[in-house]
Amino acid sequence: MTNIIYTKDLVKYFPVKSGLFGRKIGDVKAVDRVTISVRKEETLGLVGESGCGKTTLAKTLIRLYKPDAGQIFFDPEGKIPDTPLIQSHDGILEIAKIEGAKLRSLRRFMQIVYQNPTTSLNPRMLVKDIVAEPLIVQGICKGAEAEARVLEILEKVGLGREHLYRYPHEFSGGQKQRIAIARALITNPSFVILDEPTSSVDVSVRASLLELFKEMQKKMNLTYLFISHDLSIIEAISDRIAVMYLGKVVELAETKEIFNNPLHPYTQALFSAIPVPDPESKRKRILLPGEPPSPVNPPIGCRFHPRCLYAMEICKQVEPKLVEVRPKHLVACHLY
Ligand SMILES: Nc1ncnc2c1ncn2[C@@H]1O[C@H](COP(=O)(O)OP(=O)(O)OP(=O)(O)O)[C@@H](O)[C@H]1O
Ligand SMILES: [Mg+2]
Repeated sequence: MTNIIYTKDLVKYFPVKSGLFGRKIGDVKAVDRVTISVRKEETLGLVGESGCGKTTLAKTLIRLYKPDAGQIFFDPEGKIPDTPLIQSHDGILEIAKIEGAKLRSLRRFMQIVYQNPTTSLNPRMLVKDIVAEPLIVQGICKGAEAEARVLEILEKVGLGREHLYRYPHEFSGGQKQRIAIARALITNPSFVILDEPTSSVDVSVRASLLELFKEMQKKMNLTYLFISHDLSIIEAISDRIAVMYLGKVVELAETKEIFNNPLHPYTQALFSAIPVPDPESKRKRILLPGEPPSPVNPPIGCRFHPRCLYAMEICKQVEPKLVEVRPKHLVACHLY
């Protein structure tokens, strides 16, 4: 098993400013020392409450944000060994701090599809130009070659020649998202982030988009990081699932394993909210006390302890590390 991306203690903070002169008074600790890997050609689902840092982690991974600390190893071919001790001299690029031409040359391999295509597609551009733009900007090709590639990718995502000379507003929500997918895939990327890509369309369209993602993954050997609030979608599409809480990954395991054996008390609460078809079922909804704390001043020790039903003394003082407590099942919790 090899990885396409691997991060070590990744940190991304946003400054909080105040007053007339915008003096910095603190940091939003959106991503706080996250160590995570994404396997070649898998779909890694990423879940967690709103504001826990999912989008920030995703954008930092593909260097749309510059991390404040930590390392990101990226290999478009997905040859990063599955060991936490990678050194940059192993021939794998460490991309946390690279800039300029070096960073631009990597862009084509890492793409993102956002939740809302109405805001992510430029309303004044024709579809043919929207989809061709990454090819032109990244200097991959232009002219007739770019046009041919636009048509080819549009057909792959279920659109066609008749859509080339139209503007985004002439399409339905589902079709717009297909345009956004074509634009993300036209550079032939290896790693694609899907940030709630189906939450702005209705249920019937959702299923066809999910099919499209699966189909494109097979055809193009894609690796996905799939962010969603909808746990049934995450279950259907993910090989593994990572659970985030307040800037941290608190649990990571294979999909079946985490659904059958959620170990972190936060994961247990999150998954207990899924409706069960069988009314006799014993699963009880776990209601967490309190609101998620602010990421500006996260609790000392385990960040989850003020809301945890099992909090012990140690949880208030020592931050638990993410460790393997069952085969390939990582959890950050003092209970284990
Ligand atoms: N550009 C930014 N500037 C300042 N703070 C930000 C910025 N982007 C995100 N944040 C803050 O960082 C934290 C994490 O936000 P993020 O968007 O990553 O969460 P999320 O898990 O994707 O949430 P959602 O599920 O609502 O999309 C939040 O407290 C948010 O307010
Ligand atoms: Mg988000």
